[in-house]
Amino acid sequence: MSDSLFIGGGGVDYAEKQGLTLKYANRHGLIAGATGTGKTVTLQILAEGFSNAGVPVFLSDVKGDLSGLAKSGTAEHKLHGPFTERAEKIGFTDYTYHACPVTFWDMFGQQGHPVRTTVSEMGPLLLAQLLELTEAQEGILNIAFRLADEEGMPLLDLKDLQALLVWVGENAKDLSLRYGNVSSQSIGAIQRRLLVLENQGASQLFGEPALELSDLMRTDASGKGMVNILAADQLMGAPKLYATFLLWLLSELFEELPEVGDPDKPKLVFFFDEAHLLFEDAPKALVDKVEQVARLIRSKGVGVYFITQNPADVPEDILGQLGNRFQHALRAFTAKDRKELRMAAETYRENPRFETEEAIREVGVGEAVTSMLQKKGVPGIVERTLIRPPSSQLGPFTKTERAAHLAASDMAGKYDEPMDRKSAFEILKARADTAAKEAAEAEEKAEELEPVLREFNAGRRYSGARVTRSTSKSTRRGASFGEAMTKMVVKELTGTTGRRMVRGILGGLFKGR
Ligand SMILES: Nc1ncnc2c1ncn2[C@@H]1O[C@H](COP(=O)(O)OP(=O)(O)OP(=O)(O)O)[C@@H](O)[C@H]1O
Ligand SMILES: [Mg+2]
Repeated sequence: MSDSLFIGGGGVDYAEKQGLTLKYANRHGLIAGATGTGKTVTLQILAEGFSNAGVPVFLSDVKGDLSGLAKSGTAEHKLHGPFTERAEKIGFTDYTYHACPVTFWDMFGQQGHPVRTTVSEMGPLLLAQLLELTEAQEGILNIAFRLADEEGMPLLDLKDLQALLVWVGENAKDLSLRYGNVSSQSIGAIQRRLLVLENQGASQLFGEPALELSDLMRTDASGKGMVNILAADQLMGAPKLYATFLLWLLSELFEELPEVGDPDKPKLVFFFDEAHLLFEDAPKALVDKVEQVARLIRSKGVGVYFITQNPADVPEDILGQLGNRFQHALRAFTAKDRKELRMAAETYRENPRFETEEAIREVGVGEAVTSMLQKKGVPGIVERTLIRPPSSQLGPFTKTERAAHLAASDMAGKYDEPMDRKSAFEILKARADTAAKEAAEAEEKAEELEPVLREFNAGRRYSGARVTRSTSKSTRRGASFGEAMTKMVVKELTGTTGRRMVRGILGGLFKGR
């Protein structure tokens, strides 16, 4: 069975060993089922299996219960009582307890090493999706990205993008001539969305040092694949951010990894938990993109496994690409449920021993209707499989255990401290500072000359006799000088390098910081 992962027992009395063929593990998968039916444990045993086979894994831990992967299970653990029974039943004779090599990651940098990307790596398309922008707003975001490119201003963090948008707003008139309508309303709308994103804690996602993909693809000294666990409990409060981040990670893997065709085993297996979040209210263009990434990433040796309660949550085109399936129990209360159940059942190759639809309704906790890809990538006949018990601890790591693990991690120190190099924000701020200095100098000059101006203006107000009464020479000089000065000051104050713009830039930047 070294070319496959042991997943549990099927056939009569669950006595036939069932396996997931490593060679086809890059042809994606699905773990579905109602709440409490065993999805998370299935994910856990798959992660263990891949890791043992030397395949690195990336998964998100939505409820915090997967951190136990980093710790060995024990025979004494009371939850493990039934595990040995289960193991015996399915002929899992070499059932042992062991931990997996784990790296913890956390966008908020608390439960793991921080994961970051830059605004420009995220790109306007995903960012527009994340911010739920309209077409017009997305157009402006595209212009902003292009300008940043042209002006040589790196977009690393959110304040870079915010500063750039302020600058775009200040130059809207000129930019409209070049690119079409750049409306301040749309810019304002994007800025407000960015604020919402910031309030969700996203400022920590954007910046440097950005995650290097190779750090997700490591094996330990004994050749086991690293299990990368992204803390996602807090992230669930911002579902759009969660889904977009994972999608970004997938597209990044797709872009950076070389073609490998169908390798003997995957280079990385990616578990996408709560996958329905990716597809909920997603525009067709995005679903198409996910479909495309899923189809093409296979040949880069990356297997993607979607986890969701109902297979109907996954668009048909994508579902059709998920070759290895674990269908835990589905309930069928309503007519709609029954219809979806029937449709789910129809996608399997029938087993003469049982009705697929009935089996999906009946399977117990930790049991699943499974179908794995067989020789030549043909879907196997559907089985009722009692899933094997995990070797690592069921349930979470304690806070203390996690802290100790993090301190000892070989990623410690690499990502923990943020780095803020010169980028759009700093460049625009420097420009604004220069402009502010110029404006201040001009104002100072104006103040020096104010008495002259006052005299001149007073002279004009009290016209006639009084002017003629003073020496005609000095009045004439005052008039010409004062007029020129007035013009100069007005020009300085309304020109493009004037105070108005300075306030515009700084006001926008420092608001809410
Ligand atoms: N393969 C298994 N071996 C042993 N016990 C299992 C197995 N699968 C599930 N169980 C038991 O069932 C419980 C619930 O399973 P699990 O947490 O995986 O459900 P779930 O489908 O992820 O639920 P939720 O939708 O609430 O996240 C586990 O805590 C465990 O006690
Ligand atoms: Mg679960």
